[in-house]
Amino acid sequence: MRTQVAIIGAGPAGLLLSHLLAVGGVDSVVIETRTREYVESRIRAGILEHSTVELLESVGLGARLRREGDEHRGIYLQWPAERHHIDFHELVGRGVWVYGQTEVQKDLGQARDAAGQQVVYDVRDTTVHDPAEPYVTFTADGVATRLDADVVVGCDGSFGPTRSAVPGQTWQRTYGYSWLGVLAAVAPSTDELIYAWHPDGFALNSMRSPTVTRLYLQVPAETDIAEWSDERIWDALATRLGHGQDGWKLTRGPIMEKSVLPMRSFVQAPMRHGRVFLAGDAAHIVPPTGAKGLNLAVADVALLAPALVALLREKDPRLADEYSDRALRRVWRCTHFSWWMTTMLHASDDPFDAQLQLSQLRWVASSTAGATGLAENYAGLPIGF
Ligand code: FAD
Ligand code: DHB
Repeated sequence: MRTQVAIIGAGPAGLLLSHLLAVGGVDSVVIETRTREYVESRIRAGILEHSTVELLESVGLGARLRREGDEHRGIYLQWPAERHHIDFHELVGRGVWVYGQTEVQKDLGQARDAAGQQVVYDVRDTTVHDPAEPYVTFTADGVATRLDADVVVGCDGSFGPTRSAVPGQTWQRTYGYSWLGVLAAVAPSTDELIYAWHPDGFALNSMRSPTVTRLYLQVPAETDIAEWSDERIWDALATRLGHGQDGWKLTRGPIMEKSVLPMRSFVQAPMRHGRVFLAGDAAHIVPPTGAKGLNLAVADVALLAPALVALLREKDPRLADEYSDRALRRVWRCTHFSWWMTTMLHASDDPFDAQLQLSQLRWVASSTAGATGLAENYAGLPIGF
């Protein structure tokens, strides 16, 4: 097989890149280890930044998002006995959208179908060869296949093989806790997301639709999900989110899915080696607090697609040469913001830390300067920042 751009991974980064390349007149083939059903039902992100929504709309992917998504003005920040609304619209003139990654993935899948995009699911043994004249080998339906390309892009997430084909420096931070994530068949108890600091641990009340609530609890790293019955989960959520406080109630419902999610920060640079590029989680991971992962993956491919179009159609390498540095500026901004939100909101055993966290939360909630910093980063900086 031969194509202009071989894309490894059919997550949001990979499928959106193939879509943007097609808009620019460049062919691609996408390969993916999982099945399409698995990729489209994998419950992950739920919050889209303003610039993510603008980009999706600009390439014809915004219709269902506008119809079924929910625009939020801001978030609530909370600690025991206090809840404060941070109004992003008022502070920075833009908000965020609640629209599940599952839905983004389905919209992308349908758009790629309509365009006749080749996506090979269920592949095995993906290997990237020769960064100067790259090609990818894999097995599909038991048949060993070689895919030659002008450029290979690793959009293969945090466990994919492309990262190791791109030498460079890495930075990492691990946190001593994880998130227990729950999807519940119950109407959200809140109009906008609640981020709650609590001495027992952080809790987050998010949502997916008028009938589906998404909730997270801070739990120790390596927690065994079997230790958390549905009742224990709801009790902890009620305590940490402040059920009964000022008349607010957390409504319980059937839990449809629960899992423990590890948290870490990771950055690899540069995001390119020869004609092999990295985008999305393949190059960087952020802890989920602040909802940046999916948005960063979108921002990467929004820079990479025009760079590859210029490289392959006009033989102009300038944007491709700048890609890694430009992408990494935003990566580090979001890495800092995600670390900042995470360390501000998660309980540690250190009473000094707890006082610093509370002081910081009070400052963010009561000072326009503090709140604006959070709002600007959360609602998202322009692509290309
Ligand atoms: P992925 O979505 O991981 O896609 C990579 C793809 O590559 C996968 O489909 C994988 O199967 C495939 N692949 C791997 N290896 C190979 C191989 N060898 N060959 C071929 N294919 C391969 N982000 C936000 O912005 N907002 C949020 O609210 C948010 N919440 C989150 C909540 C949770 C619980 C989790 C887990 C993540 C959350 N994130 C959030 C992060 C977000 O989901 C990821 O950052 C996003 O999925 C990254 O997209 P990607 O395409 O780079 O990688
Ligand atoms: C969700 C996930 C996040 O990490 C976050 O900060 C906000 C919302 C969610 O899955 O809904």
